[in-house]
Amino acid sequence: MRGPEQMLNLAGEPQQSPGDPTMPPLTSRQLTVLTLVIIAIKLLLTTLVLLFFLQAGPPYTNPGNPLSPKTPGSTAGEPSCHLGWEQYRGSCYFFSWGSWPWQKARNNCLVQNADLLVIGDPREQDYLVRKANSTRYWIGFTDQRSEGIWRWVDNSNVTVTYWSTGEPNNEVLVSTAGENCAHMLETGLWNDGPCTFSYKWICERAASV
Ligand code: BGC
Ligand code: CA
Repeated sequence: MRGPEQMLNLAGEPQQSPGDPTMPPLTSRQLTVLTLVIIAIKLLLTTLVLLFFLQAGPPYTNPGNPLSPKTPGSTAGEPSCHLGWEQYRGSCYFFSWGSWPWQKARNNCLVQNADLLVIGDPREQDYLVRKANSTRYWIGFTDQRSEGIWRWVDNSNVTVTYWSTGEPNNEVLVSTAGENCAHMLETGLWNDGPCTFSYKWICERAASV
């Protein structure tokens, strides 16, 4: 009769099988360390995934999808904004959480069926200064096409400007390209900065019926 089968290694010597009762059990200290290491790895992965998804801001819904949630309180037929957008006088505004260069920020607005913020009158500027809450945000105002000629991204007429004193100065000290993209300062007044700098941004789109 054959005895119990033994696992042999390449050298033909007996080897412990994985469930071998002769394997020394983990000490409770080793178990604790192992558990902590697993928890730490899980936390790290979760953080990385969250950071990736939260870069741009609140999750946006497909604006063309009639089933996508609207701002709470809105009634059917009335213009309204999607979840995560702020509504004011017929427009929806999106305040990013992450910071990106101007063009990348603009692209983020475009894929959300919006564009960077266009300020058309003093009430809109006042509203946004209040909402911006002393934080710098890119706006949709640029002289990239022609130095010194500032245009809104939607080509609308430049009716009001809120440049901070001495701006726009197209300072070349920080960037040889100068400063061709406008952002709100902590005061709410505007500065031209290098378009490659990363700031938060505000998107705007018409409230939809
Ligand atoms: C900014 C310029 C700005 C200047 C105002 C600099 O740090 O880069 O855009 O015009 O400050 O003093
Ligand atoms: Ca400047």
